[in-house]
Amino acid sequence: MNGMHIAACCAAGLALFGTAVANAQTISRGQVIAATCYTCHGTHGVSPSDIPSIDYIPAERMIQTLKAYKTGTRYSTVMGRHSSGYSDEEIVETANYLASLQKKGK
Ligand code: HEC
Repeated sequence: MNGMHIAACCAAGLALFGTAVANAQTISRGQVIAATCYTCHGTHGVSPSDIPSIDYIPAERMIQTLKAYKTGTRYSTVMGRHSSGYSDEEIVETANYLASLQKKGK
């Protein structure tokens, strides 16, 4: 019984991986990075929890905020560690992608 559970889990993981690979050319880097934010900030940045929503933040302010977290000029519990993993260029692409969602009404 336990074995079956593990098998089902891995099959789902592989299916997800397959989708990501198949779409690799149509998904921008900003979109991929933005997806890592949704774990905490909710899908499209609309948070279901106490973590703030980030869907309404204009690109320019998002870039400033993430760079401030990255350099430590703005205090954070987790955002400093998270944003320090991205280059300034990746931060710009992510901020622009998230801001583009607002224009699409998401
Ligand atoms: C592990 C959970 C987690 C992930 C992943 C995460 N965040 Fe955050 N974010 C937080 C928390 C918690 C805060 C509140 C500040 C703090 O304590 O770090 C925050 C704060 C923010 C703020 C400030 C919001 C405000 O109202 O001023 C922005 C902007 C932000 N995050 C953007 C992002 C972006 C963009 C990503 C993806 C690249 C991301 N976050 C990924 C947890 C997360």
